[in-house]
Amino acid sequence: MSSAEPLTVLEQVAAEVRACTNCVLHVGTKNGVPGEGNPQAEVMLIGEGPGFNEDRLGRPFVGQAGGFLNELLEAAGLKRDEVFITNVVKHRPPENRDPLPEEIKACSDYLTRQIAAINPKVIVTLGRFSMARFIQGASISKIHGQYKVLDRRVVVTMYHPAAALHQQTLRTVALEDFRTAVPAALKLARELAAQGKVGNAPAGQDDTPDKPDEPPAPQQLSLF
Ligand code: URA
Repeated sequence: MSSAEPLTVLEQVAAEVRACTNCVLHVGTKNGVPGEGNPQAEVMLIGEGPGFNEDRLGRPFVGQAGGFLNELLEAAGLKRDEVFITNVVKHRPPENRDPLPEEIKACSDYLTRQIAAINPKVIVTLGRFSMARFIQGASISKIHGQYKVLDRRVVVTMYHPAAALHQQTLRTVALEDFRTAVPAALKLARELAAQGKVGNAPAGQDDTPDKPDEPPAPQQLSLF
């Protein structure tokens, strides 16, 4: 992990993203979209990838889905400028197609560095591509609105705002998920952070999750 100030690391990542040619996604785009928000946010939100408006402005979630994300944040009691918002891929996939595994991989290190620099207690994944970075093989329709401690962060899995935008039922569910799960996750994350269990691992300590406990040694049979 870098010992530089979060803002310096984020500016460095942003500069690299804007000049990035690691995969084909940059071809034909106007702007890389590194992400934006509070460099010391407790809550970080991770979407899928920029769309038309995000590409045009170089900022995440500024189109219709962004408007709904603002409503979702409000339901959770959060202001947009207190969180950090980014995406799994930082250039717009053509015609808003799904990002490919190699594109997600090519962008992965940017996200890793952003997470380490911001050191959020809570990560909110928006949609299945973002969820898959933390939880593999899950279905968003089964685990939306749930949270779980993973790699020293509380990870909350949510529907993508664009998916919920035009479907009244999902819209209501998404608003309710944000209203209930985000404050609950934040409460848990703050408690665990106070115990040193959430947040970047102290220097020299491994960041990987604990191994399961060793099974107890078989008890020796004592005949006497
Ligand atoms: N959808 C996303 O996943 N990210 C954005 O930035 C905008 C729309």
